[in-house]
Amino acid sequence: MSPQTVLISYGSTYGHTERYAQWIAEELQALPQAPQAILSPAAEVTDELLAQADILIVGASYLGGFLTGAPTLRKRKDAMLAVPHRLFYTVSFNGTAVYPRSYLDERVMKSYKADVAGDRPAFHFRGGLKMDEMTKLHRAALTGVKTAYKLKPHQNEYDKQLIEAFDNGGADYMDRAAITPLVEQVKEYLAG
Ligand SMILES: Cc1cc2nc3c(=O)[nH]c(=O)nc-3n(C[C@H](O)[C@H](O)[C@H](O)COP(=O)(O)O)c2cc1C
Repeated sequence: MSPQTVLISYGSTYGHTERYAQWIAEELQALPQAPQAILSPAAEVTDELLAQADILIVGASYLGGFLTGAPTLRKRKDAMLAVPHRLFYTVSFNGTAVYPRSYLDERVMKSYKADVAGDRPAFHFRGGLKMDEMTKLHRAALTGVKTAYKLKPHQNEYDKQLIEAFDNGGADYMDRAAITPLVEQVKEYLAG
């Protein structure tokens, strides 16, 4: 029997979501029932690629209310719906350390719509900040957030992490182990 195909699409501005996609592909390829894993930036996903997929994994970073690459991918709705299994993950600075899981799930639903994203909860991971690579516009937006946090009378741990990211040229809260539940879900799909 030919191996099943897992298409991993990622919408990534500074590489964090792409890195998670690579980690997921590595974990899947190490399985006894290793599928063929295809990685693709969300903007380069085609209907032909989707037609090959038994499982579609959609990753997107969360930037100020928007999921990177989601509008482009959503245009391929019909081809996405034809993939037997779909699952979604987000990457953000705060992740579920700060946001309720339901809030991030809601972002996924709003971006991809319930028909494509289904009622299954998404997976949510923490990324980082690369201050040196950031566009002026992005840096300006985050500077506004940092200033607001600095003015807070009581900063929580995560407020402090953002402020420190500016002082340290960036921050990295990526966690490879966090993908385990997602990989487990894919294993269930592969087992049919
Ligand atoms: C302009 C901008 C806005 C952001 N807004 C948020 C936000 O609202 N909440 C959050 O948790 N992280 C936010 N982040 C952090 C990103 O989610 C984080 O950098 C993520 O790792 C980016 O992943 P990527 O490199 O794959 O695009 C923002 C980052 C930028 C540059």
